Amino acid sequence: CGIVGYVGKEQAAPILLDGLQRLEYRGYDSAGVAVFGPAGLQVKKSKGRLQVLKDLTHDGADLPGNLGIGHTRWATHGEPNDVNAHPQVSRSGRIAVVHNGIIENFSELKGQLLHKGYQFKSETDTEVVAQLLDYYFSQCGDMVEAVRRMLNAVEGAYALGIVSADAPDRLIAARKDAPLLLGYGEGESFIASDVTAIIRHTRDISYMEDGEMAVLTRDGITVYNEQGQPVTKKHHHVDWDIGAAEKGGYAHFMLKEIFEQPRAIREATAARLQGGRVILQDLTMTEEEIRNIGRIIIIACGSSYHVGMVGKYNLERMLRRSVEVVLASEFRYSDPIVKRGDLVIAISQSGETLDTMAALREAKKRGARILSIVNVVGSSIARESDDVLYTWAGPEIAVATTKAYSTQMAVLNMLGLYFADILGTIDRQTYSEMVRDMQRVPEYIEKILESAESIHDIAREICKSEDVFFIGRNLDYALSLEGSLKLKEISYIHSEAYASGELKHGTISLIVDGTLVIALGTYGPLFDKALSNVVEVQARGAKVLALTTQTHAEEMGRHVPMVMTIPDIHEMLLPQLGVVPLQLLAYYIALERGCDIDKPRNLAKSVTVE
Ligand code: G6P
Repeated sequence: CGIVGYVGKEQAAPILLDGLQRLEYRGYDSAGVAVFGPAGLQVKKSKGRLQVLKDLTHDGADLPGNLGIGHTRWATHGEPNDVNAHPQVSRSGRIAVVHNGIIENFSELKGQLLHKGYQFKSETDTEVVAQLLDYYFSQCGDMVEAVRRMLNAVEGAYALGIVSADAPDRLIAARKDAPLLLGYGEGESFIASDVTAIIRHTRDISYMEDGEMAVLTRDGITVYNEQGQPVTKKHHHVDWDIGAAEKGGYAHFMLKEIFEQPRAIREATAARLQGGRVILQDLTMTEEEIRNIGRIIIIACGSSYHVGMVGKYNLERMLRRSVEVVLASEFRYSDPIVKRGDLVIAISQSGETLDTMAALREAKKRGARILSIVNVVGSSIARESDDVLYTWAGPEIAVATTKAYSTQMAVLNMLGLYFADILGTIDRQTYSEMVRDMQRVPEYIEKILESAESIHDIAREICKSEDVFFIGRNLDYALSLEGSLKLKEISYIHSEAYASGELKHGTISLIVDGTLVIALGTYGPLFDKALSNVVEVQARGAKVLALTTQTHAEEMGRHVPMVMTIPDIHEMLLPQLGVVPLQLLAYYIALERGCDIDKPRNLAKSVTVE
């Protein structure tokens, strides 16, 4: 979900609505704003897209005032509707609250409040916060103190923005296990769950830490730690330009981000590949620590997990030792076997995925060293890791990840090479070839992107399929997982990825006349096997679309009517190139089917709930 808050000299409502517009990708089943002004505290909210709220408030003109909070919601407690939308309001109507996260003890608190005569309109945990504030305020008569008491009473995760008619010059914010940042302006102050919401107004920000509470006025921001003592915050200057966070000429953010990949990968690798070597200046691990690493476990969710799958193949090959990849949501509850000396690599675009965060903490508790590969600077996962290698992909807006996936993979490959060099498990020639070819990845992707229209043609031909099977072996299998996920998440086509060798153990029974099979055959050493699987499914009537390298394009073309081709490159880097046609394919198929590409139904960019 998204939060934005403002206190200053300008009209708050238009600033809030604009901020929410930029956060809409984080969750969009309902939206709302609360503004304090001459008419008192006014709250407007509604189910559906932000546009509904904009229309309802005449783009904010109906809500005069210089103080306010706004929210876009992705339902966790209670179905998406007007009542459950945020802000939630206290019974006096004088306190409004927006919230990301989950208050775990909300039913217990609700019980206590019901006992005191409070009534509840919504099914949300957030309303409990509002009512609790009402109760404490009635006890102590001071809003800041009421917030403090409320924070002592609640358990769980939260980023909170609070305004009250009884403290009309200030906005109060608090954070625990959910992202929230502060923005400093001239005579104005902001809160936001994501920097894109306020970047138009200020680039001077600080990140709130767990347990902190902030009191914002137009004259400045005071932050208190859990003990109530004021703390000095470190300021960050955000240098992402506004254009980078906007669509810039492309029909969708996803397409823009697909086309940004050459640049993003260059950013991620240029400074780290120099003089034919991998240089990881941002890594604090010493050579000795690297030599003494015990087990290596990669944890992640979604596409980041798929990067981990590619990483497993490559790292095992480079390091000659076993590497495990575990879904973060499984790892955290599996009583994981990790201890001091083990290295846990957490991969996350947002750096806020709750399952990944929880898995990281579990590993840390057991003594593992945490190295994270993260895109969002200063995010929670980055801050709780011993080492962070940023992917420097810039803001990613489309829900379906593209450039973050690619840069994560580039960083993981560099890390593998770096370790392998120290461990002495890679020969000089492979090392040099890998470094050289990594530097070629951006230019090769540019070539693939030039053929985007031909992939669009293929998409037109196959967009009516309702079941798709991706097959591949080794790195092609790891890649097929991502290709399949991309397609299903944005086009809503039922799609599954199978290791080709598993076809005969079940999947082949699903292949009938006309079933679409997307066969990945980029991985040279196993090309012949890929080809025989193609023949096998064709014999059952499958319609095959293949992906292969230039070297094998002709041979593949002799068997398959539709072939997508990528340049030849070092084997371990094939998924870096192979993913691009698969992203484009998913994009164009979704386009042909008229889907809401940047905001697919039921999905969120960053999943900060379990
Ligand atoms: C969501 C996004 C995916 C992403 C996953 C993990 O499901 O829609 O694109 O791969 O979260 O996110 P993370 O930010 O941890 O990489």
